[in-house]
Amino acid sequence: MKIEPIDVGLEGVVAAETVLSQVDGERGELLLRGHPLDHIAGHWTFEEVIGLFLSGERPTAPERRALERRLGALRITAYERIDTLGAALDAANAMDALRGAVAQRDVADEDPLTTALELTASVAVYAAAWGARQKGEPLRRPDPDASHAADLLSMYLGHPCDPTNGRALDTYLATVVDHGMNASTFAARVVASTESDATSCVVAAIGALKGRLHGGAPGPVLDMLDAIGRPDHAEAWLTEALAEKRRIMGMGHRVYRVRDPRAAVLEAAVHTLRGGERLALAKATEETAARLLAERYPDRSLRANVEFYTAVLLEALEIPRALFTPTFAAGRVVGWMAHVFEQRAVGRLIRPKSRYVGPRAT
Ligand code: COA
Repeated sequence: MKIEPIDVGLEGVVAAETVLSQVDGERGELLLRGHPLDHIAGHWTFEEVIGLFLSGERPTAPERRALERRLGALRITAYERIDTLGAALDAANAMDALRGAVAQRDVADEDPLTTALELTASVAVYAAAWGARQKGEPLRRPDPDASHAADLLSMYLGHPCDPTNGRALDTYLATVVDHGMNASTFAARVVASTESDATSCVVAAIGALKGRLHGGAPGPVLDMLDAIGRPDHAEAWLTEALAEKRRIMGMGHRVYRVRDPRAAVLEAAVHTLRGGERLALAKATEETAARLLAERYPDRSLRANVEFYTAVLLEALEIPRALFTPTFAAGRVVGWMAHVFEQRAVGRLIRPKSRYVGPRAT
C-alpha cells in the first residue's frame, strides 16, 4: 500500500505563528527576530544573538558582558558535571553521545534565561567532551572569559584557537540559530506543548537533528568533495551519482526555491580563512550540481543549502567531521529554547491530524 507524504499543519491550521524567524523560500530571505540574516551574521556576536532570541532586543554592551559571563560560568558547571553523565559520552556516534549527555544533565527549568544558557553551555561542552574522548585526550577546561564560539573551538582543538577562526565559528553559530519550523524545532515544540521539561525538548530536537536529511548532511558533503577530488571531475561524478538516484548532499531544500541565504554568509566566512583549493572544489561542485539538478528536475530549484558551506567552513576550522552535527546543535539549541518558551506561552497541545488510509477489517 502506498502512503502519500502529507504536510501537517498544527491543530488544523496551515502554519504556526512565531515571532522568532521567518524563512522566505521564494526570495531567499531569512529574518531572525525581524533582522535580516546578513545584518546579524558576522556583525553581532553569538551572545548578542542569544540575547536577541531570548529577550527580543539586542543586548546593550553591559547586558552582553553579563550574558557572556553567565554563559562562561555555566560552561564550567557543565564541565564539572561530566562525571555525572554515566556512560553517555562513550557512545560511538557523537549525536548519540550528545543526546545521552544532555538527557543526564540536571537542569532546574525554572528561570527561562538560566535554563536556556545551561542547555546551551551543556551542548557545547559535551560535544567537545565527546571529541576529546575520541582522541583519548582530557577535555580542555572551558575558559569562562572567552567567547562561547572561541571557547568551543579551543575545547575542540585542545589549545587556544586563532581569533580569526573563533570569529568564523561565531558567525556560523549565529547563522544557524533558528530557521522557522524545521524538523528539530518542530520536535522541540511538540514536546514543549505537552508541558514536558526543557531538557526533554532538547533531547527530542537532538534526535531529529541527527538525521542526514536535516543536520547530518555536512559530513557526507565532505565525503563527496573527497570522492570528486578535483574541480574537473565534478561533472562525471555528479552525473553518475544522479544516474544511480543518489541524493547530492548539501543541495536542495524543502522551503527555499533559490540558493539558501545561509550558504552565502558561510561562504563569505570561509573566505576569511585559509583553504582556497577546497573552496574552489566546493564552488565547482556546487555550480555543476545545481546545473545537473536543474536539468533533471526542471520544475524544482535544487540549490546549495546551509549544509554545503557548513561542511567547507567547519573543515577549514579543523573540526572533525563527526562533530559537525553537534556543532550545528550548539548554535540551534538557542533557537530550540526560544521556541520552547514561545510554545509554553501559547499553551496549546500540538496534535496534528492523521488520515487513515488502511483497510477496515470485516
Ligand atoms: N539530490 C538529488 N536529488 C534530489 C535532491 C538532491 N539533493 N533533493 C531533492 N532531490 C529529488 C528527490 O530525489 C526527488 O526525486 P524523485 O521525485 O525522482 O523521487 C525530488 O527531488 C523531490 O524530493 P523530496 O525529498 O520530496 O524534496 P524535498 O523538498 O522534501 O527535499 C531535502 C528537501 C533537503 C530533504 C532534499 O533536497 C535532500 O535530500 N537534500 C540532500 C540532503 C541535505 O542536503 N539535507 C540538508 C537540508 S538543510
